[in-house]
Amino acid sequence: MNDDHRVTRRQVGDAEARHANRRWWDADADAYQAEHGSFLGDVDFVWCPEGLREADARLLGDVAGRRVLEIGCGAASCSRWLATEGARPVALDLSAGMLRHAAQASARSGVRVPLTQADALALPFGDEVFDIACTAFGAVPFVEDSAALMREAHRVLRPGGRWVFSVTHPMRWIFLDDPGEGGLVAVHSYFDTAPYVEQDEHGVATYVEQHRTLGDRVRELVSAGFRLMDLVEPEWPEGHEGIWGQWSPLRGRLFPGTAIFVAEKPAG
Ligand SMILES: C[S@@+](CC[C@H](N)C(=O)[O-])C[C@H]1O[C@@H](n2cnc3c(N)ncnc32)[C@H](O)[C@@H]1O
Repeated sequence: MNDDHRVTRRQVGDAEARHANRRWWDADADAYQAEHGSFLGDVDFVWCPEGLREADARLLGDVAGRRVLEIGCGAASCSRWLATEGARPVALDLSAGMLRHAAQASARSGVRVPLTQADALALPFGDEVFDIACTAFGAVPFVEDSAALMREAHRVLRPGGRWVFSVTHPMRWIFLDDPGEGGLVAVHSYFDTAPYVEQDEHGVATYVEQHRTLGDRVRELVSAGFRLMDLVEPEWPEGHEGIWGQWSPLRGRLFPGTAIFVAEKPAG
């Protein structure tokens, strides 16, 4: 994201957001993978720019034999890692460009997982068919109706199933997307949930990212029927000097950059 003259904050309907995001991720897929692919790995589950790995965090619980849906999988490295842990993953994304990278990484690594192109708001699966749903920064920050996404995740999970997703930590919303000193000064209201929008010269959205407060996220989960089990705010690790967009050691040592919600669909 950047803050130039084509950047605004305004309401965007679901159709405009979906259109913008599909085009954005299709167009950006090569650049995104070139920039972040080696950090993410071909067969690895990294939750966030802080580098927290599922292999260490185990937020999904025991995955062996479990049916797992990765929603907004990008190049699907998380699903391939899950497959090597004995899970039965399905990797889903809106963008054909990102799924093309997923297919290439599967061929490269020899770890193949089923890939599905679909919108997270209309998951093409029956009710209660997955044990776990998860995503590392996929779909959730980009859909207008994130409450509906929580309901979709709830619908496809069996009772007792787990839904774990990482997003940009809501408090980052108040700062400019600047990994340096400029990103330490509060300039936006935390309470203003009008989405961040980049648009073309005709005012048509080309990139849309949504903000929800922590309370909004909790309410959306609880309203969908989930029980919140944990909210993980990974600390910036000693010795990690990498910069990912607005994530940097400078900011990461002062305040959180990622929020990971761990929720469960109550059993019975
Ligand atoms: C930041 S990437 C995260 C992907 C991967 N976990 C990673 O870390 O690279 C966001 C992904 O969400 C996908 N996405 C955005 N909106 C979506 C939607 N409505 N339904 C499904 N996927 C969506 C994008 O296509 C993109 O691949």
